[in-house]
Amino acid sequence: MNPFTMVKEMWRAFFFVWSIQFWRMSLLWTLSILYSHFQLFKASIYSHKIVSYPRCFPSTTPRRPVCVITGATSGLGLATAHQLSKDGYVVVIVGRSEQLLSEAIRKIKGWNEDACLKAFQVDMSSVESIMKFKMSLQQWLLDSDLHCSVQILINNAGILATSPRATAEGYDQMMATNYIGAFALTKLLLPLLECSPVSSRIVNVSSFTHRAVIDMQVDEGTVSGKRFLSSKQYPYANIYEYSKLCLLLFSFELHRQLCLMGKSHQIFVSVADPGVVQTNIMQEVPAILSCLAFSVLKRLRLLQSPQSGINSIIDAALAPPGISGAYFFGGKGRTINSSALSRNAKSALELWETTSNLLSVTPFGVEGKS
Ligand SMILES: NC(=O)c1ccc[n+]([C@@H]2O[C@H](COP(=O)([O-])OP(=O)(O)OC[C@H]3O[C@@H](n4cnc5c(N)ncnc54)[C@H](OP(=O)(O)O)[C@@H]3O)[C@@H](O)[C@H]2O)c1
Repeated sequence: MNPFTMVKEMWRAFFFVWSIQFWRMSLLWTLSILYSHFQLFKASIYSHKIVSYPRCFPSTTPRRPVCVITGATSGLGLATAHQLSKDGYVVVIVGRSEQLLSEAIRKIKGWNEDACLKAFQVDMSSVESIMKFKMSLQQWLLDSDLHCSVQILINNAGILATSPRATAEGYDQMMATNYIGAFALTKLLLPLLECSPVSSRIVNVSSFTHRAVIDMQVDEGTVSGKRFLSSKQYPYANIYEYSKLCLLLFSFELHRQLCLMGKSHQIFVSVADPGVVQTNIMQEVPAILSCLAFSVLKRLRLLQSPQSGINSIIDAALAPPGISGAYFFGGKGRTINSSALSRNAKSALELWETTSNLLSVTPFGVEGKS
């Protein structure tokens, strides 16, 4: 780094530290992750039975099952793609950059030369791009010798954007990537998940930060994030937490809707919380502060590598049939309780309807109706 860039970066860090959002992130997020660990600790001290599930590995004969992972070009997504390729899945990796997708394929092939991979360039913050992906995936499955279905969908793509950016559809980019994209993709892939010869699974990668939300506001301006785009100070920490809470509410509502549709024995939905993991997620935070945060978290023994951070994701993806609506955290197949707000059925239904209304004015409105 040249001296000019270094001074600029220090100056940016200085301003960053003086924002409420920074302190919200530092204090509330630390308390949130400590609370999740406390749940595991309490269960072990008082010998409460913690609910945990073994992993069930797929049958790869006669044909290998297909798993779709979004945001698989780095961090947790990349490590998950590698692990599931070792477990016998044909892994469809989804990313927004052609170059990063090629690099991801090269890396995974380097770790596991037998990996069966297919990359698709998709912008998860764009409903149009997600719809095109669904068509291309379906065509690719039909043209391949694979069963035309998806056995696992992992909605992992996510960002922590520290400045406001609008998507082509006018949504806030963080809300669009972290929540709306996952909602749209899941609904579009339901028919392919339903076609799976054995039960299929949806895993939504949420975060302990959802615990920091204490009041759930559900209206189109908030869910689309449009109302934040014009705010004087972009409340990035609040939006990130809110997007992760939305993903949880969506997961639990989807589980309920599948029960109502009589499909709950066929498609299972779970949430995975990886804990704190050293990845690129903090790339928009000044480097000096993210390095400091990682070193403090390392001292507190809370920081994990992507290889161990994926444990909850793999646990959720390979959970036994029938396990649905669970919140996986801490590895070893363990589940804990998510926040009370995330389990509020009324808010979940309200969010489902608001998101569906929001998308009804896009081309998704016609195809995604169910
Ligand atoms: N790291 C943690 O401590 C932590 C804790 C709890 C939850 N999580 C969640 O874990 C998930 C994975 O994050 P990570 O920590 O592995 O961070 P990461 O290394 O930054 O990975 C995020 C992935 O999402 C992709 N992505 C971002 N925007 C996208 C878009 N519009 N379309 C398609 N792909 C997009 C990124 O692609 P590019 O490479 O192109 O940017 C990247 O592959 C996120 O949902 C995050 O919220 C992380």
